[in-house]
Amino acid sequence: MGLFRKEKKLDQDSMKEGVGLITLTSPTSVIAEQFRTIRTNIQFSSIDQKLRSIVFTSSGPSQGKSTISANVAVTWADQGVNVLLVDADMRRPTIHQTFQVPNKKGLTSLLTEDEFDFNTTIQKTPVEHLFVLPCGVVPPNPSELLNTKKMDKLIVELTKHFDLVIFDAPPVISVTDAQILASKVDGTILVAPQGIADKRSVIKSKELLDVVHARILGTIMNRVKPENTGGYYGGYYGGYYGAEESKK
Ligand SMILES: Nc1ncnc2c1ncn2[C@@H]1O[C@H](COP(=O)(O)OP(=O)(O)OP(=O)(O)O)[C@@H](O)[C@H]1O
Ligand SMILES: [Mg+2]
Repeated sequence: MGLFRKEKKLDQDSMKEGVGLITLTSPTSVIAEQFRTIRTNIQFSSIDQKLRSIVFTSSGPSQGKSTISANVAVTWADQGVNVLLVDADMRRPTIHQTFQVPNKKGLTSLLTEDEFDFNTTIQKTPVEHLFVLPCGVVPPNPSELLNTKKMDKLIVELTKHFDLVIFDAPPVISVTDAQILASKVDGTILVAPQGIADKRSVIKSKELLDVVHARILGTIMNRVKPENTGGYYGGYYGGYYGAEESKK
């Protein structure tokens, strides 16, 4: 598992090889520390209501959703919180590759089979307290599968078993999956890479999330150039902006 792979418009590497887990391979690095900061900021963005389920999305593809959700999940588990990371990106799944777990059964099996069988679908990871639910067989109709009462039931069941359920979702503009998920979970986080996600797309994403009454917890500015961080962090993950600040 490398750190980051070569920049391309639509990255295929994360689908083939998974994303880099720097929080696992280099937990004392500056970048791992930035992931811990993101986790803390998300925790503080919802002090009144305990977050049990959150979804990560972005306006377009290859903007860092899977990298950020997986690394933030690791930092959460490191705190002793029982975390389940769910691959709800049925269009471009990565979690089975990132954590090297089988992908024969996963979220799609839970949504299509009569009974929820967590024993054959939820997998352990090398990180204590962190479990993953891979995507499973890619279905022809992801939005229809997610937009069901069964999905509502599944979220209720998963949050009974885990302290926090994190969903990695597709981009919000191209398909409705992320909107559907955002309408069902406690909080939504929008990933926006600096210089890649254009302002109009980010505003459009927020509008689409507002339509479904998503509770937007904040925005993560990804790929922030070192010169824009005052040189302090030396790049990569710039910052986390709470919902109020994101409106500015
Ligand atoms: N801050 C960053 N700096 C450099 N590379 C990054 C950064 N964040 C993500 N990447 C790289 O960009 C690529 C896409 O990242 P990732 O797969 O996490 O995005 P995604 O939004 O989940 O994409 P998809 O739309 O395919 O699901 C990966 O190769 C990843 O390593
Ligand atoms: Mg992804």
